[in-house]
Amino acid sequence: MSFFRIQGSKNLSGGIRISGSKNSSLALMVGAALGEEDVVLTNFPQDLDAVVLAEILRAVGVKVEEQAPGRVLINGSGLRPAPIPYELARKIRGSFYIAGLMLARLKEAEIPLPGGCFLGPRPVDFHIKGFQALGAEVSIEHGLMKARMGTGTENRFFINRSSVGTTINLMYLASLTPGVFVLENAAKEPEIVDLAVLLNSMGARIRGAGTEVIRIHGMKKLKGSEHAIIPDRIEAGTYMMAIAATGGDAVLENVMPDHLRTPIMKLRETGTVVEVGETSIRVVAKEPLQSTDLETAPYPGFPTDLQQPFGVLMSIANGTGIIRETVFDNRFRYLDELTRMGADVKVDRDRAIIKGVPVLSGAPVETTDLRAGAALVIAGLAAEGVTLVSGVEVIDRGYEKIVEKLQGVGAEIERLHTTEDCKEVI
Ligand code: EPZ
Repeated sequence: MSFFRIQGSKNLSGGIRISGSKNSSLALMVGAALGEEDVVLTNFPQDLDAVVLAEILRAVGVKVEEQAPGRVLINGSGLRPAPIPYELARKIRGSFYIAGLMLARLKEAEIPLPGGCFLGPRPVDFHIKGFQALGAEVSIEHGLMKARMGTGTENRFFINRSSVGTTINLMYLASLTPGVFVLENAAKEPEIVDLAVLLNSMGARIRGAGTEVIRIHGMKKLKGSEHAIIPDRIEAGTYMMAIAATGGDAVLENVMPDHLRTPIMKLRETGTVVEVGETSIRVVAKEPLQSTDLETAPYPGFPTDLQQPFGVLMSIANGTGIIRETVFDNRFRYLDELTRMGADVKVDRDRAIIKGVPVLSGAPVETTDLRAGAALVIAGLAAEGVTLVSGVEVIDRGYEKIVEKLQGVGAEIERLHTTEDCKEVI
């Protein structure tokens, strides 16, 4: 178990370079294996989820090779129907993308069902219905989804509610299934567009990505390509909140401000100044922060993945803010830890009512999931005194070099590896 020790109350200033998108990198790694030639992905982030997915891809015969930092080569020519150990699959939800890949390339798939997680139940019923619409016969046996392509594809499918993972899996399968397939109520996230750009550069014919209706012409084969992954909008949003929470003035580089329109709008409502450049964003905190209400929604709405960092801002803002979480059932657990740092919070089903306090006080806190962990880091940076965040491996799943990046803008944060280290420093 690793820990972060944070000495709070330091203003962040300077510059942070944003990495490639974690969630895009997962979707694109699997998408790259739809072809049988070399695909090179650049601006590739170094995070643990990609390492686990690389292990899963290798287990099914796909070559994944880091050629240089940030540059990964994928070659799907060796793809074979090998079993994926549940212990590996359960670590990341992106493992279920292998289902779409295998069905598309091998016409059959046997994949462990991902199960629930800290965010609450995470079913894959939309994915399965979509596979069936594309002609798969699917059964669930002993915790596995077994699927085989039959005949008789339907030519359209409406996803019950906007789902990123379902849209990705169906884009894979439809890209190599004969005919024209129309996906309705598709997710519009920038990661979907990034996947479409990659697949089109490999010879796929995908139109409408980024809108609710995506039209996909099935091809016989896809070829090699080289593609730069988009910047991570959630990493960027997290650092924007960190700068605002600490009274800082810092610039984020290698960002696509267009992907952050709603978080920028909400941050401005707190009084924070946000200056947008072509590929950079400057955040200048204005104290005191003002409370505002927030509701999460699929893109272009406010991302559920930034709800927790924003909750920390509300906990130290002037007034009371109400946050409504509409995407996942269980994304308020970080608020229990925040309360231990002095926050004034009430949770009523999908709503959190957060009354700002003048200052948080450092305390030992525990992470539950990736974004909750990032939120607790922000709380520690803003708080008076020392905060010890435990279980930080989960933060490494999605934030490349978070300690080094924060140190680079003046934060006093260090990684500790044993509880003995912690006793000495807290
Ligand atoms: C992706 O998860 C991201 N993960 C999540 O990022 C992100 O929070 C989420 O999209 C929403 O933006 C990756 O990209 C790897 P969904 P995904 O399918 O695809 C329900 C992070 O912290 N649903 O869009 O799993 C589902 O339960 C993470 O980086 C069904 O009911 O999310 C949820 O309520 C966590 N049945 C809603 O739809 C299904 O078959 C949206 O989920 C599929 C989804």
